[in-house]
Amino acid sequence: MPFCTFEGIEGSGKSTQAARFAARFGARALLTREPGGTELGRGVRELLLTKHPHPVAAAAESLLFFADRAQHVSERLRPALAAGQVVICDRYVESSLAYQGYGRGLDLDALQRIAAFATGGLRPDLILLLDLPVEAGLSRARSRAGGPDRLEAEDVAFHERVRAGYHAMAAADPARWRVVDATGGEDEVAARVAAAAGEWPR
Ligand code: TYD
Repeated sequence: MPFCTFEGIEGSGKSTQAARFAARFGARALLTREPGGTELGRGVRELLLTKHPHPVAAAAESLLFFADRAQHVSERLRPALAAGQVVICDRYVESSLAYQGYGRGLDLDALQRIAAFATGGLRPDLILLLDLPVEAGLSRARSRAGGPDRLEAEDVAFHERVRAGYHAMAAADPARWRVVDATGGEDEVAARVAAAAGEWPR
């Protein structure tokens, strides 16, 4: 099934690159994102990214991301795939594994089981990891208007664990993952993304 996701740390430029990549497929593409790809999900996204007076429990955080995802899979991703569209999603299950698993230290096997439950087993056939050093990503992200959201405001060590987690997953499953150097200009990175995707979808 033609389902591709973009992954990466904050400031990796994946949203821009996902949009450019989707443009290659014209009206055949569904470009979407998590969290917040549905109406329900936009409410969940607000809960997840705003700061709360009490620390958000890691399990609660992960289940909210999966609630957003379950709705997204059911309302948008599966119908689009069934209609023959090419689906390009900015973040998916691998974000939960990287951020809540590797970043927060939640059990990866438990997250995999929750993922299977929430998505009914829908997984991307291509994962493009836009990779760059944490400091470079955070300084890009922090230069955006509005200030850091709750996850961007985590310390550098957290983002280093997320990035290392992405590397570990990519190394373990090279058939699905492509690691793309996300340093440099937008056009340069877009050319690397196109080269990494090759003839996808076959
Ligand atoms: P978003 O504004 O979409 O960030 P970005 O532009 O970096 O994609 O916010 C998503 C934030 O939520 C981002 O910090 C990554 C985090 N996240 C998780 O921690 N787990 C998840 O499962 C997902 C989908 C996102």
